[in-house]
Amino acid sequence: MYKKITAFLAVLAASFTFFSVTVHASQNDGTKLIAHRGYSGIAPENTLAAARLAGEHGFDACEFDVWPTADRVWVVMHDDTLDRMTDGTGAIADKTLAELRTLRIDAGNGIENYPDEKIPTLNEMLEVCKKAGIMPVIEIKNGDAENLETLACQLDASGITDKCTVISFERDCLIGMRRLRPTLDLRLLIGKVTKESIAFCVKNKINGISCNYKSNLPHRYKPLRESGLKMTAWTVNDLANANNLTDQGFEYITTDALVPGTVNARGEHSVKADITTLLLRIWDKVPAFLKNALKGCGVAS
Ligand code: G3P
Ligand code: CA
Repeated sequence: MYKKITAFLAVLAASFTFFSVTVHASQNDGTKLIAHRGYSGIAPENTLAAARLAGEHGFDACEFDVWPTADRVWVVMHDDTLDRMTDGTGAIADKTLAELRTLRIDAGNGIENYPDEKIPTLNEMLEVCKKAGIMPVIEIKNGDAENLETLACQLDASGITDKCTVISFERDCLIGMRRLRPTLDLRLLIGKVTKESIAFCVKNKINGISCNYKSNLPHRYKPLRESGLKMTAWTVNDLANANNLTDQGFEYITTDALVPGTVNARGEHSVKADITTLLLRIWDKVPAFLKNALKGCGVAS
């Protein structure tokens, strides 16, 4: 009985979220949207398919995560291991590119529609972003000095050094990239915005901060705005917060569940809730017994 009540409340909360997001009209034409791990609401995260879809749906930028392999090739994956997203197992750092190429992406949203995706290399992802006309937002998860040098050279070779953003939680990686490329756009990833993190960016010529908006009350953004650093927020999945953050001076919003809407005369797009992604997110939260019951009476499949 207790479990059923909890389930009922979960569905009620999900419905309320759905309702409030759907009815909240977008007010900020010009909010720039970063597709988090590509358009990962409808294709498996961090794949070429997800990047292509981000371009087709009018996102301004495509975020993805990169790790170096054992033979020092940068590849695209969120986790440091292969287990969650592929039919392989173990750490990326222990595998060569040739070994990774034998694997298949076998998890993620819409996997049934994208059965042939492989782990992309950084180069492949950059080429897709270039063709799609969207800015790559490259999150360095880790890497030593030699790997950073390789990454900088790859950006140069793709002609993208001044047309991308590199982000990282790893301060040493940002400092290393700044030493290598003085004009590259760099952003520090953090949870809470602090005076210390702002001072770090200013001192090391890091262009901006990308923060978890859930870890911050609005007063934390004042010193950030005043510092002149660029402001990005992650991962914002409802219109009310997206609009609020844009009003507070955020340049980019990273999202799993918002999509570009109509385009105005200045070429700026509005922002709207992505109903397909939203329904999938709500469905994910429905307890198994309720899913089975709905399937059993033909309401869901
Ligand atoms: O864009 C920032 C965000 O991607 C950081 O978190 O875990 O999704 O890489 P994570
Ligand atoms: Ca990321």
